[in-house]
Amino acid sequence: MRLITAIVQPERLADIQIALARRETAGMTISECSGYARQLGHSEVYRGAEMTIDFVGKVKIEILAGEADVDGIVETIVAAGRTDTPGDGKVWVVPVESVVRIRTGERDEEAI
Ligand SMILES: Nc1ncnc2c1ncn2[C@@H]1O[C@H](COP(=O)(O)OP(=O)(O)OP(=O)(O)O)[C@@H](O)[C@H]1O
Ligand SMILES: [Mg+2]
Repeated sequence: MRLITAIVQPERLADIQIALARRETAGMTISECSGYARQLGHSEVYRGAEMTIDFVGKVKIEILAGEADVDGIVETIVAAGRTDTPGDGKVWVVPVESVVRIRTGERDEEAI
């Protein structure tokens, strides 16, 4: 099992959601968030001076998936999320040790 986390442009969320639904993704969690990456706020001063960083609004998508589905989900998010402009976001994947469906007590892949 894997946890796929994607930070995407908020205006791409609807298309990403539609594209993932076509793949019958089991579930996902969405959060509004803010962040920055390489471009920063162009006003950072390091050590001894005030640091100003502009955070930009993004959407975080989290999807638990079985290993067999991971590559397809990541490719779908990248294809639907891309606008070819800076700030389009990132996707990363980490291993998940256990999952429990609370209602039934099912575990791991059966709980996804
Ligand atoms: N190294 C990182 N760690 C955690 N979150 C990150 C990281 N890089 C980017 N993010 C998140 O993704 C958002 C979008 O990042 P962004 O697409 O600007 O990355 P980038 O590396 O600057 O690529 P680009 O050059 O296409 O802008 C950030 O606002 C932040 O929320
Ligand atoms: Mg950037």
